[in-house]
Amino acid sequence: MSKFAVLGYGVVGSGVVELFYKNKEKIQKRAGDEMDVKYILDIRDFPDSPYKDKFVKTIDEIVNDPEIKAVAECMGGVEPAFTFSKKCLEKGISVSTSNKELVAAKGDILLALAKEHNCNYFFEASVGGAIPIIRPLHKCLAANDIDSVAGILNGTTNFILTKMINEGMKFDTALKLAQELGYAEKDPTADVEGHDACRKICIISSLVYGRHVYPDSVHTQGISDIKLEDVQIVNKWGGSIKLIAKVSELENGKILPLVMPMIVPFDNLISRVDDVFNAVLVSGNGIDKTLFYGRGAGKLPTASAVLGDVIDSVKHDRTVFSQSWESVSDNSFVEDWHNYKAPVYFRVDTDVTDTVKFVKEMCPENCELVDAPNGQLCFITPVVSLTEADSLKEKLESAGAKVVSLIPVLK
Ligand code: HSE
Repeated sequence: MSKFAVLGYGVVGSGVVELFYKNKEKIQKRAGDEMDVKYILDIRDFPDSPYKDKFVKTIDEIVNDPEIKAVAECMGGVEPAFTFSKKCLEKGISVSTSNKELVAAKGDILLALAKEHNCNYFFEASVGGAIPIIRPLHKCLAANDIDSVAGILNGTTNFILTKMINEGMKFDTALKLAQELGYAEKDPTADVEGHDACRKICIISSLVYGRHVYPDSVHTQGISDIKLEDVQIVNKWGGSIKLIAKVSELENGKILPLVMPMIVPFDNLISRVDDVFNAVLVSGNGIDKTLFYGRGAGKLPTASAVLGDVIDSVKHDRTVFSQSWESVSDNSFVEDWHNYKAPVYFRVDTDVTDTVKFVKEMCPENCELVDAPNGQLCFITPVVSLTEADSLKEKLESAGAKVVSLIPVLK
């Protein structure tokens, strides 16, 4: 019999318990052992819960019980989740987590600790909700040199953008709905300002490129500056604006992770990924491109990923399967984000009448003019660095035009 504990009884933790009992027989067959939830750790009381006898308030009750084989950490935040996870791993209890904030901040330490104590620190649920992406990256795709990983990694913002664009819903109403549906973080600024997507691209970058990438070394821009006018112009042109998290390996050996709104042309499947869905496009020298798609947030989709890890912990007790990556003391292997290269969309307020002549004189060769309302000029540059795009902005503004929007196109 393999007993496990659930830390945190919020959206994900309660989903883990619900999905476990819903599918218990099948889960046990797949684990090759009988299983049960022995403890649920939460500081709150749940007197009406059918599981009220399982609730405990201290981690020591869990780690000191020799029957506990695995733990599902669904608390969120760095502390006390870090201390609790450490205590479990030091006792040889495998931990499966949905806590991207913790993995992005301290994943290297917890992975090393798991290895040292002959157990596992699994984090499939920390990126992409229900989508299997962590295991594919470090197992199925391990034979590839990965050039880039790019995608939509935040369900809340994708849900908000979809509701605003397709249903004309106001931002605040869409955000409230995302909160009610259990998609948003406790503090939804983490979603809206891109920090959640940043944590996820840090985890992917660390896993793929083998060195810990910290959130503060990743340029992060959220969706709060996206304007409906640009969404409409870009739609007519043939693309969608999405919050994209991307990491690429450069020729100089550095990596360039970043999170920003980008234009995704309609010939890229990611442009059609709507609602709470996430998608991750992996490019490698063996696979060319592989796309992963599924629900990126929500109670049962995330619980599914956590429980998959718990089942693996039980099945492979005492075998270290989880990947590790190097701790680093400096981030010189991370390229300055200003050197990110892409075609860039500009929307400019201008009273110039001969826009073709204006673009020809002011902008790089081969800019593509985009249909725009009167008094506005829209164009897409050829591939430039974001530094070059900024210089172009300054040049246009010194000629009396006002650059309203500047958005890279996903390549
Ligand atoms: N707030 C996150 C999101 C939850 O919306 O994607 C899943 O990590």
